[in-house]
Amino acid sequence: MPENQTKEQKKIILSGIQPTGVFTLGNYIGALKNWVAMQDDYNCAYMIADMHSLTVRQEPAKLRQQILSAFAVLLACGIDPKKSLLFFQSQVHQHAELAWVLSCNTQFGELSRMTQFKDKSAKHADNINAGLFTYPSLMAADILLYQADLVPVGEDQKQHLELTRDIANRFNNLYGNTFTVPEAYIPKVGARIMSLADPTKKMSKSDENQNAFVTILDQPEVIIRKFKRAVTDSDMVIRYQEGKDGINNLMSIYSAVTGLSYDQIERDFEGKGYGDLKLAVGEAVVEHLRPVRESYEKLMKDKAYLESCYREGAEKAASIAERTMRKVYKKVGFVGR
Ligand code: TYM
Repeated sequence: MPENQTKEQKKIILSGIQPTGVFTLGNYIGALKNWVAMQDDYNCAYMIADMHSLTVRQEPAKLRQQILSAFAVLLACGIDPKKSLLFFQSQVHQHAELAWVLSCNTQFGELSRMTQFKDKSAKHADNINAGLFTYPSLMAADILLYQADLVPVGEDQKQHLELTRDIANRFNNLYGNTFTVPEAYIPKVGARIMSLADPTKKMSKSDENQNAFVTILDQPEVIIRKFKRAVTDSDMVIRYQEGKDGINNLMSIYSAVTGLSYDQIERDFEGKGYGDLKLAVGEAVVEHLRPVRESYEKLMKDKAYLESCYREGAEKAASIAERTMRKVYKKVGFVGR
């Protein structure tokens, strides 16, 4: 980007993360790492998607703690509140308002096709609530409120992004140009980090098996132990190829944290065993996450600083969101407020 390009001319980024449980290495490589890298070249808005978390049952005191902790993790990862907008979704009421308008422009059939809805309703069969179903309309609102051009996410959110584009186009066609139609930004390496216990499944913070995922805040010895136990295969060749899900996953994690290409990794590990690769990946991840964990521990002791950051973030976010909301309410025929 040319140096004389002003903040106003930069493209707009919006992304979000749910504060349920400590973020995994999958969240970090698939999303957060890019969030940090994009701050200089784009106008970025990042939010803790706390409203999305209510689609599954939460314990209130624990949720509040997790929301604050998630905020500190984002700061610790390198999100700079001087460069980027960082806020809690629930503190900007326009998200709920736009979600309602958009849900009236989203079809039942479209929502029924969302694979995440199908997966989560199978997993929480005793609580298939309306929020779980209309979740993509709220996610569309998050994005469209800020007129985002790009949305950095992992592969699992691609379907929701496509639906957001359909909703935006539909609204623009019905009511005249209102929303920027956003594009997904999915990383080439690490868009889908897999479970260490079952490399055919995505790494998820809600996995019951603690060995399936590494979190950003895990202690070094825990990280090493989990990598040592990672499930691989029995043919003993370190090569990135179809059918070698466990090795492919280890290689993509290693590549994401070291910047080495797959070719280079294959060369470096020629003649070496899976144990060597597992240890090297574990150690590289430990070194990569060490500064994040240390900075997180300091930030969690400074609640006043955290509060000043999220208050300011919500205020700035609301003023942008309100501009879009006024436009939307006018377009649909409401009397201006
Ligand atoms: P969430 O909280 O499940 O995940 C946050 C981000 O992490 C990515 N991710 C992964 N990437 C690679 N490998 C994995 N194993 C992995 N697991 C998670 C996700 O793709 C995501 O980018 N609905 C969203 C949150 C959200 C949002 C938004 C995102 C709410 N509103 C608006 C973008 C724009 C979610 O539940 O992500």
